Amino acid sequence: MNPVNVGLLGLGTVGGGTLNVLVRNAEEISRRLGREIKVVAAAAREYDPEGLDGIDQVRVSNDAADVISDPDIHIVVELIGGYSPAREFVLEALANGKHVVTANKALIAMHGEELFAAAREAGVTLAYEAAVAGGIPILKAIREGLAGNRIEWVAGIINGTGNFILTEMRDKGRDFADVLKEAQELGYAEADPTFDVEGIDAAHKLAILASLSFGMPLHFEKTYTEGITKIEPRDVTYASELGYNIKHLGIARNTDEGVELRVHPTLVPKGRLIANVDGVMNAVLIKGDMVGPTLYYGAGAGSLPTASAVVADIIDVARSIDHIDTAVPCQGYQDGKIEDLPVLPIEEITTSFYLRMYARDIAGVMAEVSSLLAEAGISIEAMHQYESHTEDGCVPLVMLTHRVKEQVMNETIARIEALETIKGEVARIRMEHLD
Ligand code: HSE
Repeated sequence: MNPVNVGLLGLGTVGGGTLNVLVRNAEEISRRLGREIKVVAAAAREYDPEGLDGIDQVRVSNDAADVISDPDIHIVVELIGGYSPAREFVLEALANGKHVVTANKALIAMHGEELFAAAREAGVTLAYEAAVAGGIPILKAIREGLAGNRIEWVAGIINGTGNFILTEMRDKGRDFADVLKEAQELGYAEADPTFDVEGIDAAHKLAILASLSFGMPLHFEKTYTEGITKIEPRDVTYASELGYNIKHLGIARNTDEGVELRVHPTLVPKGRLIANVDGVMNAVLIKGDMVGPTLYYGAGAGSLPTASAVVADIIDVARSIDHIDTAVPCQGYQDGKIEDLPVLPIEEITTSFYLRMYARDIAGVMAEVSSLLAEAGISIEAMHQYESHTEDGCVPLVMLTHRVKEQVMNETIARIEALETIKGEVARIRMEHLD
């Protein structure tokens, strides 16, 4: 059988990794596929040939059109990232009848619907396994492995950079900026690292997970997003003393009222496996109505792990290249069966909370705060006053609450902050038991 010809757009961290995986595991791959996969061309504005296996066999140009318009190429692999010109390149490749594989979560989250329609129109496939959770084959697990379930909720650590930063801060007391710099040097971080630390990258991925899990459109713009930049080392310590780790979670839940889509720092009981996922590793916990909870763990970023997912897509596409009607639909559901489920605003969501405030060290403060919580019907699970004093003689007061609607908590926090005995803002971190 003739080889399947692949053209790469981008030869950076993931592009270079993809070439290396295809070359290093060529024999194993053709044993599985029954034919050879050959990278025949690549387009990159600049690249370092050092460490790129078999690059001398690849025609490299600095013009994407040389790949997109090459009649011999069956699969175009977009690994340049970002919204534009990636969107234009993918649309052009699809229009030229090429199958497309991409690792670009921003592109899929923002323009997925348009691209899926273009792929359908052209009778080709658009695959994007590497867009979520790096090397973990999570999209295949949802679309195929869990296809017999109604998925109830998904909770994941889906940004490796953010998890790496939180872990290093907790375990080694390292400075935020210093760890971020290391994540950039290791090739984990996005071109704009605010995407990692402000939760935008995780929100892109969560929108994709929710779409595939619940059969709904991609709603990145409706995803509530809160980053990790405001987490103070003392909160990590207090949470730990209370039996929780702080994780930056993406959570999607399909409820009777609507879909929750939220990315935020979260206290998770230390006993949960996902609370112990550290460093650049990702993990996704999925609750299916028949199977119950299942957990998927692996490297969420980095050259070879992400390339592993890209290559799996290339193999999948290559398998159905001549009978594309047998391929699993891009969003896992049949065309016309995607339901536009309403997305709940964050104020409507109910969770437990960790609250930390600074109180004047005088009698009756705890009673004042707890009576405001009681008036709002918020029940307290734990309360602790720490001995350490701030410069102006205040003491940290930490409490964990039972579940309450966000809007009620917002109003109550405003009332607590207005108390004469409380200094500054109340820090709040949501809490999930994931049981
Ligand atoms: N910047 C991303 C992360 C890369 O750290 O998870 C993988 O999508």
